[in-house]
Amino acid sequence: MKRFSQSNTIQRLPDQFFAELVKKLNHYQKKGHDTVNLGQGNPDQPTPDHIVHSLQTAAEKPVYHKYPPFQGFDFLKEAVATYYKRHYNVELDPGSEIAIMPGSKTGLVELSQCFLDPGDIALVPDPGYPDYWSGVALAGGEMNSMPLREENDFLPDYGELDKETLEKSKLMFLNYPNNPTAALANQQFFEETIELAEENDICVVHDFAYGAIGYDGEKPLSFMQVPGAKNVGVEIYTMSKTYNMAGWRVAFAVGNPSVIEALEKIQDHYFCSLFGGLQEASATALLDSQECVEELTATYEKRRNVFVGGLEKLGYEVMPCKGSFFVWMKTPEGYSSQTFADELLEKVGLFVAPGVGFGTYGEGYVRIGLNNSEDTLKDALQRFDKFKNNE
Ligand SMILES: Cc1ncc(COP(=O)(O)O)c(C=O)c1O
Repeated sequence: MKRFSQSNTIQRLPDQFFAELVKKLNHYQKKGHDTVNLGQGNPDQPTPDHIVHSLQTAAEKPVYHKYPPFQGFDFLKEAVATYYKRHYNVELDPGSEIAIMPGSKTGLVELSQCFLDPGDIALVPDPGYPDYWSGVALAGGEMNSMPLREENDFLPDYGELDKETLEKSKLMFLNYPNNPTAALANQQFFEETIELAEENDICVVHDFAYGAIGYDGEKPLSFMQVPGAKNVGVEIYTMSKTYNMAGWRVAFAVGNPSVIEALEKIQDHYFCSLFGGLQEASATALLDSQECVEELTATYEKRRNVFVGGLEKLGYEVMPCKGSFFVWMKTPEGYSSQTFADELLEKVGLFVAPGVGFGTYGEGYVRIGLNNSEDTLKDALQRFDKFKNNE
């Protein structure tokens, strides 16, 4: 069959490291191996009933059977503004400071296309969520990694960025609670970020995907809560993790009006917003009781306590797990993150994500998901124990 050659843009896209890993897992499962998958980031619980019912009712409304407004319904933008006021005491203008997006993955890729020209630099966390790289590659930009190190509580050290890099930097991606390290940001760090961004004209994109998931009574800080944040960037919030709505594909960006304008412009060309029923159900999720969110966070925290406690008893070294639903664990002596992950799968059927898949500074760690039942996590602990005893 004729094979059409791909554009240079598509050829620039990096390989999806995790797609390859999942192929390996599938191969094992097909061969009949008993496996436990702790390597992916898909929430394991269903969307709360009242949100599902809201979509069911909305699906019957003919108004939603037509094309929705290009930039989304006003009622959803107003719900987002109410949510940010209620939960973070942040004022947002629904007309100019909120954009609705089909999932934050999409928005994160679009932002690079909005603000990078070939040769421009995007500052990206290393280790970090790989979709930041995809957008930068599509835009023909360059990436400059900001190492996240244990000794710095997995926050970037801006002192490491030289003048030339800063001059060429147009975008910076941050993500707290952090995937994959489970670290949180603090006020001082965000203040430093704002100062750096102001001085160097860098647009900051704070990916707040795990915004609802903080442990030990600590509520993760929204970047927008810090004075001056709106002047230098946006925050991206997804419904995927807070409300177990990963399959629904609804997210929004809030903050600097010029960034929102660019996002809405690119989306006017790519999409015609989202099905109105999804927008109505998302507004329901944001405005109704948040008891389901409290329950969800408590569930993850309980799992974290059982699982991290168990790993530590077995002698594994786990980084402080303060938020998100991931555990960032050191690979034992004598293994790289890849060889450890490979051997866990081969010897005890345990699938974890090797840290190197998140960047060079992810080497030496593996990421393990708490998005599995307590029973599954206990089963995983037994497998870690077996692995240790058979080394
Ligand atoms: C840090 C981070 N950002 C963004 C996303 C994507 O979320 P969405 O479902 O909104 O595309 C994920 C999903 O795993 C994530 O871990």
